[in-house]
Amino acid sequence: MPKLTINGKEIEVPAGTNLIEAARRVGVEIPHYCYHPGLSIAGQCRLCMVDIEKAPRPTIACNTQAVDGMVVWTETDRVKETRRSVMEFHLINHPLDCPVCDQAGECWLQIYYMKHGLYDPRMTDEKVHKPKAVPLGPHVMLDAERCILCSRCVRFCDEITRTGELGIFNRGDHSQIGLFPGTELANKYSANVVDICPVGALTDRDFRFQVRVWYLDSTKSICPGCARGCNIEVHTNRRRPHHAEGRRVARLKPRPNPDVNGWWICDAGRYGYGAVDDKSRLLAPSRREGGAVTDATWDEAIAAVAGVLARVAPDEVGVIASPQMANEDLFALRRVLERRGIRRVGFRVPPRAPGDEDDFLIRADKHPNSLGASLLGLDGDVA
Ligand code: SF4
Ligand code: SF4
Ligand code: FES
Repeated sequence: MPKLTINGKEIEVPAGTNLIEAARRVGVEIPHYCYHPGLSIAGQCRLCMVDIEKAPRPTIACNTQAVDGMVVWTETDRVKETRRSVMEFHLINHPLDCPVCDQAGECWLQIYYMKHGLYDPRMTDEKVHKPKAVPLGPHVMLDAERCILCSRCVRFCDEITRTGELGIFNRGDHSQIGLFPGTELANKYSANVVDICPVGALTDRDFRFQVRVWYLDSTKSICPGCARGCNIEVHTNRRRPHHAEGRRVARLKPRPNPDVNGWWICDAGRYGYGAVDDKSRLLAPSRREGGAVTDATWDEAIAAVAGVLARVAPDEVGVIASPQMANEDLFALRRVLERRGIRRVGFRVPPRAPGDEDDFLIRADKHPNSLGASLLGLDGDVA
């Protein structure tokens, strides 16, 4: 394990760790655009420059591995000046349309300009113009003028989905992201490119212009879309209820977990939250008597179920638990059934159609908690 020093702090890291990750471990953030821990190294944006003692000039941190005895400085005058110049270069042809950009508030051009840029622009020529609001597929919209050509989206499609829809076309300041002829960005994981795009070039067609991101709150959760259990963040909008037709859930985002989903989620899981705010969602108990359905209170519903369970012999009762339920709910159900002596309980209801599956994240079992139901002993025969 190489031992090195970053800004005077000594640290030991596993062999092969690059300087961006090594610096993170001592609480030092090295600004970067093209580096992403889930993708190959491109060394494209040149923003991650650091000074390494005995090196003649600043070096990119993403493509430099920690070496024993290395001494790294991330805030020298030379590094700061280099960063400022790189920022100015990235923004030379940028349209600076932040007020109408849906990425505003979570854009790394904005964030890094305020932290590391703050230069006076010297660009006086007409900027190069490129296509705006180009749909790349069902979920992703491209604004080519805002793109800094970091190639993260291209590498995602080449290395993660291996579908290769995206490329960088043309040369020099006319280079731009685009689709290969005859393709669209419609793979099962397509919207991850929105998450990894550091700027407002790729935005989410479902979310864009619904609500500004600074009004959102974030809650850690698990996707209920299949048995993979991808880690997610639920972004909710409670502060602007008059936006997005009052929907509380604004979007789902992947939450990195190397043991489950890496940095990614599938599109089906990402856009599967509509039921939460669906107007037809069942929110309170109702009672069916004869042909009529009437509202009931929870007390009435619980009393009615308890009354039926008291009247019927336990071996005549069968219960179907839901593998959509959390462990706590399944455990509470099991206790109720145990108290009543009911043993016929199961949860395996065959799906109407077999679920799709792949060799990456998506699982054929579309329930998030079949394993929990099984481990809690609710896997009996109710036939
Ligand atoms: S669209 Fe975004 S992710 Fe793709 S190259 Fe441009 S800036 Fe990078
Ligand atoms: S693979 Fe898709 S549906 Fe399954 S848990 Fe992950 S995001 Fe949800
Ligand atoms: S992050 Fe190192 S060159 Fe882009």
